[in-house]
Amino acid sequence: MSSDQIPGYDYGADEIPDAPISTDEFERLQRTVLFDEDDEEYLRMAGDVLEGQIDDVLEVWYGFVADHDFLVYYFTDGDGNPDEEYLERVRERFGQWIRDTCDAPYDREWLAYQFEIGRRHTREKKNEVDDADAVDHIDMRYLVAFVYPITATIREFLADSDHSEADVDAMYHAWFKSVVLQVTLWTYAYVPDENW
Ligand code: HEM
Repeated sequence: MSSDQIPGYDYGADEIPDAPISTDEFERLQRTVLFDEDDEEYLRMAGDVLEGQIDDVLEVWYGFVADHDFLVYYFTDGDGNPDEEYLERVRERFGQWIRDTCDAPYDREWLAYQFEIGRRHTREKKNEVDDADAVDHIDMRYLVAFVYPITATIREFLADSDHSEADVDAMYHAWFKSVVLQVTLWTYAYVPDENW
């Protein structure tokens, strides 16, 4: 879903290049993380559950970053000064990302934006859309390691609903698979083509 109201959120915009992988290859990746139509359904269920809780989820994630100076670092100029405006603008896009993650099935536009998100974590594009005064690259190891907190912390929010334990579990696994899938796509911006 594109959102014109969120600065820098360019999902679906003309200037976002098509994804550099075929739909067949994307499907193979989905199969690798055991992502199927049931997961799409459970992600949509998760979207309904999370909708009213997005600010609370972001509080937890931003709190987690704030508690670790080596993570806050990526929002600073490198000398310990965080760019507050940058933090706020990224927070808004992060909120929309939660919605889009739950808005399966994923199409070519969604896929194209994944590669853009990857670029925005690297020297190629970081800081650009917000004109931020921050370090220019997020080291890939943190991107991968961040999969765990982004996944583990979502469970309590999914459980805060009338759904059965089995449904909460299924939503949680669908979320986990989607985050792994997305971060896998984002790594494209980090490694030479022949290694990806
Ligand atoms: C941007 C998610 C890892 C720092 C973003 C955006 C999303 C996101 C959705 C906004 C994309 C857009 O512009 O529409 C994630 C997820 C991660 C992850 C799901 C791992 C599972 C990290 C890590 C850091 C980080 C480890 C370092 C603390 C940032 C920064 C931006 C950003 C600084 C702004 C990039 C820019 O200048 O445009 N991230 N991120 N992210 N993220 Fe991450």
